[in-house]
Parts: sequence; structure tokens; C-alpha cells
Amino acid sequence: MSTTLTITDRSAMSAEEIFEELKARIGDYTPEPELRMQAELAVEVNQLKAQRNAVILGHNYMEPALFHSVPDFVGDSLDLSRKAAATDKDVIVFCGVRFMAETAKILNPSRTVLLPSLEAGCSLAASITAADVRALKARFPGVPVVTYVNTYADVKAESDICCTSSNAAAVVDSLGVDTVIFLPDEYLAKNVARDTGKHIIVPTRLPTGNLHFADDVDFQMVGWNGRCEVHEQFTVGDIDLVRSQFPDVVILAHPECSPEVVDAADFSGSTNAMIRYVEQTKAPRYLLLTECAMGENVAAANPDKEMLRLCMVRCPYMNQITLQMTRDSLRHMQYEIDVPEEIRVRARRSVERMIAIG
Ligand code: 13P
Ligand code: SF4
Repeated sequence: MSTTLTITDRSAMSAEEIFEELKARIGDYTPEPELRMQAELAVEVNQLKAQRNAVILGHNYMEPALFHSVPDFVGDSLDLSRKAAATDKDVIVFCGVRFMAETAKILNPSRTVLLPSLEAGCSLAASITAADVRALKARFPGVPVVTYVNTYADVKAESDICCTSSNAAAVVDSLGVDTVIFLPDEYLAKNVARDTGKHIIVPTRLPTGNLHFADDVDFQMVGWNGRCEVHEQFTVGDIDLVRSQFPDVVILAHPECSPEVVDAADFSGSTNAMIRYVEQTKAPRYLLLTECAMGENVAAANPDKEMLRLCMVRCPYMNQITLQMTRDSLRHMQYEIDVPEEIRVRARRSVERMIAIG
């Protein structure tokens, strides 16, 4: 089920109207002068958006003032790639990170795709190169490569099919083969291995930089040692402490968390799946083990439930994107994301195979 949200069209709203909306959603903890400044920036963004005939896609991790004021659509990476593929606007502004903007360009190459900050990377995407994938394919010939969408285009181009956190197990199952290479998130791979009943091996990096695979003949998944620098920091100890303080809390963990953390949580799913869970749960109190900004956005949409904040780890890449950067992006048409055609065509095949699965 898709939960990408189409936001009310705010293009014609005044700063006062946006201010009132922000106040209703995040006014409990944001002082009014800050809200007024954000509302004025949002009006500028919306005017530029109309002038440029642009669409703004906002990932669930966007900071609350941006999330609640300028995107035409908000959602997880899978849903936003669908929106990017379908848009007929001239310009796509991706309020997210670089691999998401690249995916938009891969799927809709005739549009201008803008990423408001060049610093909006991702530790998972940076953990693997196209040469690494080629080396794995040489070592495990004929084994299909499933690549998490949190990778750059040249890595997707070397892959057979992509997946996101919302469809990873379905993608692996869809291949109907005994063995897959699943890249680059070690934890997501281990969580998928458990969900699909497969046994996984993950290489260790030797001091020389070379990879070493343990001699294990009984594996069905080959992983990689990439990690999300945000989700890898949550521990079972954190969960135990929170539960001892708030025994009725329901804990939700993104599948980029370690399998131990996922096991200790009550639910694990993509950012959209977590949002749906909170909407439907009867539990009075919940905690999200993911980027903290999403917790604020979910809390604003569910005022009847109490959200515990665990904001000690933040995604430094998602946090690059602000209303000001988005305004400057549209004002100066920066930073344009391009993918060489030869890579784009091969990467598109992998992304489209994934989208067809759902
Ligand atoms: P989702 O696909 O669940 O939105 O996750 C993207 C991401 O980067 C999580 O860290
Ligand atoms: Fe990448 Fe982790 Fe940030 Fe998501 S939260 S963009 S996986 S570093």
C-alpha cells in the first residue's frame, strides 16, 4: 500500500496562512519568530516553484518546518521514486539525499533534477563502488545482484535489481534463486536473510584493504559491510533502558538497524511503514529508532499519541536540506544532478525491475 502523501497545494498561501499551519503542527516547541521566518521562506520557495514549473519531493526525514510547508509529495524512497518517474513538471527538486535525486534522474531524464545541497550524501551509498560490485560478480559468477536503492547510479548499473527497505524481502523472493548478492547494507541484508530464511556471509575487510570471506559453503546470501551511520548507533541497551523507564512504550526500528535491535523492537519497517504503524497503533506511547526529524513529523500528525524523542543521533546528510537551501536551489537552479547516459540506461533497468515488484 502506498502512503506517499499529496500535500495540500500551498502555492497560493500567504506567509500568515503558512505561519498558522506551522504553528498548529510544530508550535508547541518552536518559538513564533522562528515560525514566521520559516513561513516567509516557504512563500518564497512556493513562488519560485510555480515560476520554474517545479515539483518538490520531500523525504520523511526532512526537518519539520520544511516537511510541513513546501513539498508536493512526502514519503519514503520507494514512493518518491514513483512520483519522480511520473511527474510532468520541468524541474524536480529533491529534498532528500543525492542517491534519491540520482534515482529521479535515472527514471525521468528529460527533467532537470536539483538537489539543494551537495553535502547531502549517505554513508551507505559511499560504502561501495562499481568496481567493488564487479569484483563480487567475478568472485560469485552468475549470482544475481540485489542493490539497495541507497547507492549511486554506477553501482545500480552493475546490479540486476534494486530494492528499498519496504520491498527488500519481496525483491529477494521474486528472484526465485538459491543464492543472491545483497549490497551494501550489512544490517538490512541480515534482516532480509532472517525474513527470507536465508543464511548470509559478509566479508571482513583485512588490514590490507582486501576482502576476506570465511570458508562457508552453506550460504544463500552474500552481503557487504556497509552501514548507515545513523541506524548502526542504536543498541539493545538503549531499548532496555527506554523500556525500563516507559514499560508501555512501543518501539519501531528501521531495518537499517542491527538484527539484534530489530529483534528487540516491536516493529520494523521502512519510514512509510513506521508512519502507518503509528497511525494505526492503539498504544499510547511510542519511540522511533530512526532519524529524529521524522519523529517530529509523525508526532505532529498524531497529536493524540505520545512520542518519545531519541535524538542523540542525526543524519548529517538529510539535515543539510533546509528551506533556505531549497529556496536557493530554485533561485539559482542548483545543484543539478546528472547521470551519464550509458550508466543511466543500465541503472534504470535495475530500478524499474524493482518498481514493477512494488
Ligand atoms: P526509506 O526508504 O525507508 O524511506 O529509508 C531511506 C533511508 O535513507 C533510511 O535511512
Ligand atoms: Fe544514508 Fe543513514 Fe542518512 Fe539514510 S539515515 S540517508 S541511510 S546515512
